[in-house]
Amino acid sequence: MTRKIGAIVAALFIIPWVMLAQSPTNTLVVHADAAKDTISKFIYGQFAEHLGHCIYGGVWVGENSTIPNTRGIRNDVVDALKKIKVASIRWPGGCFADEYHWKDGIGPRADRPKMVNSNWGGVTEDNSFGTHEFMDLCEQLGCEPVICGNIGSGTVKEMSEWVQYLTSDGDNPMTALRKKNGREKPWSVKFWCVGNETWGCGGIMDADHYSNELARYSFFLKNYGGNALYKVASGGLEEDYGWTETIMKKWKGVDGWLKGYLNGYSLHFYTVPEWNKKGSATNFVENDWFRTLKKTLKMEELVTRHSAVMDKYDSAKTIGLMVDEWGNWFDVEPGTNPGFLFQQNTLRDAMVAAVNLNIFHKHADRVKMTSVAQMVNVLQAMILTRDKQMLLTPTYHVFKMYTVHQDAVNLPVDLQCESYSNGTESIPAVSASASKDKEGRIHISLANLHPENVQNVRCELKGVAGAKVSGEIITAAAMNAYNDFGKPESVTVKPFSGAQLKNGILTIALPAKSIVTIEVK
Ligand code: AHR
Repeated sequence: MTRKIGAIVAALFIIPWVMLAQSPTNTLVVHADAAKDTISKFIYGQFAEHLGHCIYGGVWVGENSTIPNTRGIRNDVVDALKKIKVASIRWPGGCFADEYHWKDGIGPRADRPKMVNSNWGGVTEDNSFGTHEFMDLCEQLGCEPVICGNIGSGTVKEMSEWVQYLTSDGDNPMTALRKKNGREKPWSVKFWCVGNETWGCGGIMDADHYSNELARYSFFLKNYGGNALYKVASGGLEEDYGWTETIMKKWKGVDGWLKGYLNGYSLHFYTVPEWNKKGSATNFVENDWFRTLKKTLKMEELVTRHSAVMDKYDSAKTIGLMVDEWGNWFDVEPGTNPGFLFQQNTLRDAMVAAVNLNIFHKHADRVKMTSVAQMVNVLQAMILTRDKQMLLTPTYHVFKMYTVHQDAVNLPVDLQCESYSNGTESIPAVSASASKDKEGRIHISLANLHPENVQNVRCELKGVAGAKVSGEIITAAAMNAYNDFGKPESVTVKPFSGAQLKNGILTIALPAKSIVTIEVK
């Protein structure tokens, strides 16, 4: 009798619950019928600072190196970066930019003065990688330079002459100097950062002081020939909305002085759960995984709130929000120089990259450029090098998978998803974005933040007539899986067959801790 009752209870309760657990508990509506804003390819920008082995060893090995190179720039790194369609590179810093004097980095290398890189390990900088070498790197990659000018220890004259040196073809001293140094034709330069973190390493200014400096510097950065600079103001600390207000007010201004002299506004936000307890990049447990993901989701709030302030003065969204430093910041790898910020990169980094890129897509109306920190060997890098060896990180593979979104039209998405809970805290278990490319293909990128549970997603495609579905996935057995030198890649892009399309409804079984991109055509 008891057994019979048990069987009835099982039939009534347990079996439906098992069935429910397998049916989609997350819903996503992709509005291909409401496409509006283009996801600028510049959202896929990189940051390369004179810091640790980002430039020296990571990019620049010199012409006489046994490492294969083109005019001193590593061929393996360039080839790998070409595959992720690097759209722009921000250089020479960061904090380094405000100690950098560009004239020290031109002319014969043997004659270039040395300096101490006081921000990053106190090492000697020999200036062998300077303006010409950086512009060569950009030309090899076919990407836009993002030059960060020195306000902290420089002058208006120095910065304005750098613009002239790079972009003018006129009869003037800087053009003559460039020609003397072997470059006949001017380069084209679009993005110009008028200072970096001017609240801190860029000069410890307050917003009012900086807004006056910004106006003064910007005014003297001229457009030569057909070159049009896109000038980017330094933002304040990540949550300093008052700083944003001050700059935007100045831009709009009673006399409108800054109008025409400012095009973008910078936001820096690093994913660091606690600055004095950053934790290991590889040796972590689920609690750390959760804390990192929770922290990185703050990007959504920051972009939303800074945009809201900008909207007050610029409802037409002519000023771009440029998230020109973002990414994970963990403890350096044991035994490495603490000033070099060298950290490994795991599936957790891949997840952080996917979440942030999804946020940037969503805000494509305002976010016009971002630079992940940093490109090679520093912080959340795409590439790590050790002498001759090179490896591609899990973050690299997300950038590779997401190239399909570059310059595609963002498709608004409505996502209702489960929560991923850890103790008393919870975050959404799924992150998603979608776009439509020039050939009409739809790409939907989803990340399952939950380290253990599959997420079944029912996805409704509004305004899509596609019939063919394919997919790619990045995942691994362990949340701290990473790619190591001399070993086969353990975190990479693989084909994904967990998505089915029937009657306009896509059902997707997202494995735990995975990032997936589905193509519908
Ligand atoms: O990316 C490392 C440093 O972080 C940059 O130099 C600085 O701008 C930021 O504080």
